[in-house]
Amino acid sequence: MPKEREPGEPSAEPQVSPTAQVKLLYRAVHFGGERVSNGGSGRRDMGGRGPLGVGLVGCGAIGTALAHAIDEGRAGSARLVCVYDLKPEKSGKLVEGLRRRPRVVGTFQELIECDEVGLIVEAASQEAVRQYALRALRAGKDLMIMSEGALVDGGLAGEIRALLRGSDRRVYLPSGAIAGLDGLKAAAINRVDEVVLRTRKPPEGLRGAPYVEENRIDLDAARGPQLIYKGSASEACRLFPENVNVAAALSLAGIGPERTRVEVWVDPTTRRNVHEVHVRGEFGTLTVHAENVPSTLNPRTSALAVLSAIATLKKITERFQVGT
Ligand SMILES: NC(=O)c1ccc[n+]([C@@H]2O[C@H](COP(=O)([O-])OP(=O)(O)OC[C@H]3O[C@@H](n4cnc5c(N)ncnc54)[C@H](O)[C@@H]3O)[C@@H](O)[C@H]2O)c1
Repeated sequence: MPKEREPGEPSAEPQVSPTAQVKLLYRAVHFGGERVSNGGSGRRDMGGRGPLGVGLVGCGAIGTALAHAIDEGRAGSARLVCVYDLKPEKSGKLVEGLRRRPRVVGTFQELIECDEVGLIVEAASQEAVRQYALRALRAGKDLMIMSEGALVDGGLAGEIRALLRGSDRRVYLPSGAIAGLDGLKAAAINRVDEVVLRTRKPPEGLRGAPYVEENRIDLDAARGPQLIYKGSASEACRLFPENVNVAAALSLAGIGPERTRVEVWVDPTTRRNVHEVHVRGEFGTLTVHAENVPSTLNPRTSALAVLSAIATLKKITERFQVGT
């Protein structure tokens, strides 16, 4: 088992000579920041020694699609090493359909103890992010987070950033079911005055959300598009933990979770999960409208969010990087 590092403790990776360091720095800069690492065998290095070893947490809609994409070679140079789900039947079912079967583990601890895993992909829940994110990074793993809402309610994002400052680990937050993060990131180099996310979903896309339950909102009573919530991104991610994760990525890419505004609409006239992003700032204005087909496995999750996880994994393992 690799020794766990504390935040701030320097990398235990092998030392390289000053000349080699200069060469490696040059290559890292010119290849879009892909990391040079001689870490565990699960990590892909600049020499392209082997595929990136992936450990998956959560075997639902996103996890299953990602596992199949890796298995079929559609997710870049990656290999699925271990899978974990709170419900063992979910992980058992997932591996059954794969040509190259990963190990099914019964605890998260077993997953982080697997030396072949270089990247852990969380596709489970906000609670899973709270439980596992720091442990994964301290165990020397990179991390992709899908349940991004966990990062804007409370201090977890700050703790992760502090831990990253003392290490060479990386954290990836896919764009999910929205487009426009590239434009927002560029715009935010200068002043941005306003960011609004307007989410419109059919009743089944919002059912069971804490805000809907607590306020006893009858989603089936709406006859047309109806605004049911308006507030900050941090509050929206808490009240709709499985519905507006995109608000978290949007706020972290732009002006933060308190200033990013979110509207949630229920719309019985649509079958799609619609996300509209509006940005206004020194650069001008930006409006992006995405109409997402829901995933067949989970109506709260959009097909584009699933594809975004796959595309992020592909991007991590590729040297030629397109887009901001
Ligand atoms: N970033 C985005 O744009 C975006 C888009 C859609 C969904 N999501 C989020 O991604 C996550 C996965 O989505 P999904 O559609 O695959 O969900 P899903 O409900 O289909 O699957 C989640 C799986 O994770 C497992 N799980 C839950 N908590 C766990 C834990 N603590 N440890 C291990 N396993 C656990 C569940 O048993 C289930 O099998 C959800 O939190 C969802 O809200 C994010």
